[in-house]
Amino acid sequence: MLKLVQAGLGCHPKQLPAWLLYDAEGSRLFDQICEQPEYRLTRTEIALLEQHADAIAAALGPGVIVEFGAGSARKVGPLLTALQPAAYVALDISANHLSQATQALQQLHPQVPMLGICCDHSQLKALPPDPLLNNQRRLGFFPGSSLGNFNRTEAVQLLTRFRHILDGGPLLLGLDHPKPASIVEAAYDDAAGVSAAFARNLLHRLNRDLNADFQPDQFIYRAQWQPEHNRVEMALVSRCEQSVTIANQSWSFRAREPLVTEYSLKYNPAMTKTLTAAAGWRMLDRWHDPDESLSLYLLTAAE
Ligand code: AVI
Repeated sequence: MLKLVQAGLGCHPKQLPAWLLYDAEGSRLFDQICEQPEYRLTRTEIALLEQHADAIAAALGPGVIVEFGAGSARKVGPLLTALQPAAYVALDISANHLSQATQALQQLHPQVPMLGICCDHSQLKALPPDPLLNNQRRLGFFPGSSLGNFNRTEAVQLLTRFRHILDGGPLLLGLDHPKPASIVEAAYDDAAGVSAAFARNLLHRLNRDLNADFQPDQFIYRAQWQPEHNRVEMALVSRCEQSVTIANQSWSFRAREPLVTEYSLKYNPAMTKTLTAAAGWRMLDRWHDPDESLSLYLLTAAE
């Protein structure tokens, strides 16, 4: 973690890996973001899954559902009901989140065997062996537009890795579409200030875990739609000239200099087709909300 942070602070612009946002407090704040009126992605996707669960289940076919980056696992419910999978395997980087989420879900779906695997799914090459996975088709589930937090090269690598992990099984991928600047910027900078607290929590985390000396109040949160990249840039902008020291090394910030905390890339269906094809996937089907604000794609291995 120290090496990644040092490398990120040495970049232009300074940038930190987005997964660092998700300590226990960050995961709690992210769940709150999902409930803000301006951030409609989660509600829209859940409604879409509820509405089309039977069709999606039929298209996926039988097997074990493997959810990458399950978080609070609040989206898979309709699929568990409609598909009655052989098992549900949830992968997530936060052990706490994972055990709470699978316990809650198990009570609602007692007949589905469940397994939580604590790991960084963005680096995962194979699933650990488990009897639940033996002789079962693997049905990948990657909702929430989480792919959008990776740059294009990383996204292709990740989708390629998922294809190997799923071993011939399909992938259900949820991706948010590009939208007008005012809508996206409000979604990523809500009036209640939860998105700002989520980003600023990263500095508190680095102070705690790496003994850094960031002054979180000396940074202003900014979310900016960058149409040339089809992405939102989220950054903490230094209010003044200041420096930060971590492990005896100092970095200086100019006044108004940004520290990028995260990018959220948006893809329309054509862009998604190109992106997924580069990772060896073929698009079989798509479900979307009436406003075409996001899509769920059913992908199958191209060969
Ligand atoms: C997890 N991920 C898809 C969120 C997004 O929409 O890019 C992360 C997020 N960051 C701030 N708000 C939401």
